[in-house]
Amino acid sequence: MNDSARAVVADRAPTGVDPSKPNAARVYNYLLGGKDNYEIDQRVADRMLAVAPDTKTTAWFSRKFLLQAAEDAAAAGIQQFIDIGAGIPISPNVHEAVQKVDPAARVVMIDYDPVVHAHTNALLSGTSGVASVLADLRRTDELIERARTVGGINWAQPVAILMVGVLHFIMDDEHPAEIVACLRNAMAPGSVLAFTHGSVYTDGELMAQMDGDTSGTTAQCVFRTGEDIAAFLDGFEEVDPGVVPVQEWLGDDLPRTRLVILGAIGRKR
Ligand SMILES: C[S@@+](CC[C@H](N)C(=O)[O-])C[C@H]1O[C@@H](n2cnc3c(N)ncnc32)[C@H](O)[C@@H]1O
Repeated sequence: MNDSARAVVADRAPTGVDPSKPNAARVYNYLLGGKDNYEIDQRVADRMLAVAPDTKTTAWFSRKFLLQAAEDAAAAGIQQFIDIGAGIPISPNVHEAVQKVDPAARVVMIDYDPVVHAHTNALLSGTSGVASVLADLRRTDELIERARTVGGINWAQPVAILMVGVLHFIMDDEHPAEIVACLRNAMAPGSVLAFTHGSVYTDGELMAQMDGDTSGTTAQCVFRTGEDIAAFLDGFEEVDPGVVPVQEWLGDDLPRTRLVILGAIGRKR
């Protein structure tokens, strides 16, 4: 990445606590029922809930997809997990899901938000097999290196990369497909990528409102088509049921929601 691209990246990264602007981690924390959020985050989330009252349910479906994908990867024998865009910890966390299956599993929680990093350190420092790393997904080479040096990831061994609710914060001109390809190249055969992503099948009024409320902030997200989202699996073997609403990953007859989040899992051969 050249210097001007780096400057743009730096412009859209949280630098500390700013209670005047909505923040992705804190809005999501509020939707999940957490207490680590401010009035501005609550206002944005409450406006979402006014248009789509089922958005708390959607947030929990996405969170359940994360935990289930992690648990399934642990059951398949993967022992190292990288949770990118991990957010403010809220139990159950990924390490609880995977260490139930394999007590030796290691989890590296990565986020670019220093406030999330501080919360993670405060809540989980001393928890065995968990490391917290401050890194920006858009500076992918640096993230891969820090996952190794700070998080202890051995890239020669299979890894599960979890990117739940984060790729939609990467704008088109920040080249999300190139970011995923860069991670794929670093992953050993037998690795797994699991992610969720906000889609254009979301209620139109909700998308327009979210756009207006978050434009220019780090909470702004890009709703993509199923085709665009499926393209992130290029070079991976797509796992069934494919690129579908997270409800379909979780099983029986869960209700559709107005915010439509697609889930996808790919395996690297
Ligand atoms: C909606 S929260 C998802 C939390 C968690 N993955 C979950 O499913 O419960 C999105 C998180 O992604 C983080 N994030 C957004 N853009 C990022 C980037 N470029 N690099 C690293 N983290 C990022 C935000 O700080 C936020 O904590």
